[in-house]
Amino acid sequence: MSVAFSEGARAEFERLLTRYPDRKAVILPALHLAQKEFGFVSDDAIVYIAGLVGTSPAEIEGVATFYTMFNRKPVGKYHVQICRNISCSLLGAEHLIEHISEKLRVRPGETTPDGKFTLTKVECLGSCGTAPVMQVNDEYHEHLTVESIDRILDQLP
Ligand code: FES
Repeated sequence: MSVAFSEGARAEFERLLTRYPDRKAVILPALHLAQKEFGFVSDDAIVYIAGLVGTSPAEIEGVATFYTMFNRKPVGKYHVQICRNISCSLLGAEHLIEHISEKLRVRPGETTPDGKFTLTKVECLGSCGTAPVMQVNDEYHEHLTVESIDRILDQLP
């Protein structure tokens, strides 16, 4: 099934082209746009962006897989990305990951059957000074504890 940007996203893409003189420099922002538009970067989205940018799908795929912020599979309504890197790990990230896993009854990499949550372990979220950290969709949550995680996840509609 092929995909295409909505009119608004297409206009945004055209605007990006005017901002970046080199068409290839548009790949990264175009992937962000695709993820926002389609929820994840499917194989079809890769082919579509390659067509727009005028390069090969392999090149787009290389960029999409290099940057972990791009979801190559569909994710739930809330994408819970929890950092497992050194600072977070020293402050108990493994225990917190286990807690979320048990709470949501999914393993990292899985989505709850109702499609509400996807749990992903990620490398450094760039907020080591406030470890342990997780990101739920676009929002950062810092100095996590089991209690704060429960509060954050329980209040999501
Ligand atoms: S190690 Fe977790 S945010 Fe850097």
